[in-house]
Amino acid sequence: MDRINDIFAKPERVDPLPDLYSIVIEQTYQRIVYPHSSTLKGYQSGSSETYGELLPQLVAEIVNNVGVNASSLLVDLGCGVGNVLAQVAIMRNCRCYGVEIRPGIVRLAKDVLRETQARCRLWGLKSGSMEVSEGDLTQDAMSLAKIQEADLIVINNLKFDESLNQNIENILSINMKATAKAVTLRQLSYARQLRSVQVQNNGRLPSNTVFRTNAGLYLMCRDFAQGLLSWTNSSGQYYIYSKFDTTKIE
Ligand SMILES: C[S@@+](CC[C@H](N)C(=O)[O-])C[C@H]1O[C@@H](n2cnc3c(N)ncnc32)[C@H](O)[C@@H]1O
Repeated sequence: MDRINDIFAKPERVDPLPDLYSIVIEQTYQRIVYPHSSTLKGYQSGSSETYGELLPQLVAEIVNNVGVNASSLLVDLGCGVGNVLAQVAIMRNCRCYGVEIRPGIVRLAKDVLRETQARCRLWGLKSGSMEVSEGDLTQDAMSLAKIQEADLIVINNLKFDESLNQNIENILSINMKATAKAVTLRQLSYARQLRSVQVQNNGRLPSNTVFRTNAGLYLMCRDFAQGLLSWTNSSGQYYIYSKFDTTKIE
């Protein structure tokens, strides 16, 4: 009797089946990227072209926090194999565009996006358009046009060098739409004002607090849990940039 009561007392399944979109993303990655993973490694150690990925759970967290809908344009600057583009195009059915400087990785990204679209058709899943171009994000005319149109710009810049990060901050401050947000894994520049706050806070910025950057952008950071990056198990922070203090608007 106790055992029967135990069975009926059990809560509903707590490990829900993964969403269909997660299956599409995972199968595509296994089929297209894994067999060519050596392509990802061909970078000079410590350079801006160092490879690593935001894992799907962190991408989902960012998209949910920042707010992306079907009419949005997401732009990934340094999009690697297009993992973020494919995921968000299925999650939100929005347009996704990425630029990547390494030709071998661009070829993989094109295959990833093609395969994702084919698998979506097979499963009857809707998705937004996905596009990748080869180029330097600071020079490419198409990327500049997309930055001007974007609603969310994702930049996994942890290994970008200081001048590239500084360049990106300038590009964003001039070209980003008033309502757009950009998410980075590392601050684009270090204002003296922010450095002293970080020193007092164990090297981190206090989360959910708005700061002003040297380039006049607004900056807020959020904490994320362990296990959400491909190259480390560490927890961390991501940074949300905007032209206006969005906490006052929302
Ligand atoms: C850490 S990976 C990020 C991959 C993917 N966006 C993600 O977060 O999962 C950074 C990528 O940026 C690319 N990259 C570096 N400098 C670039 C530049 N100037 N223009 C375009 N892409 C660049 C690198 O080659 C690398 O593939």
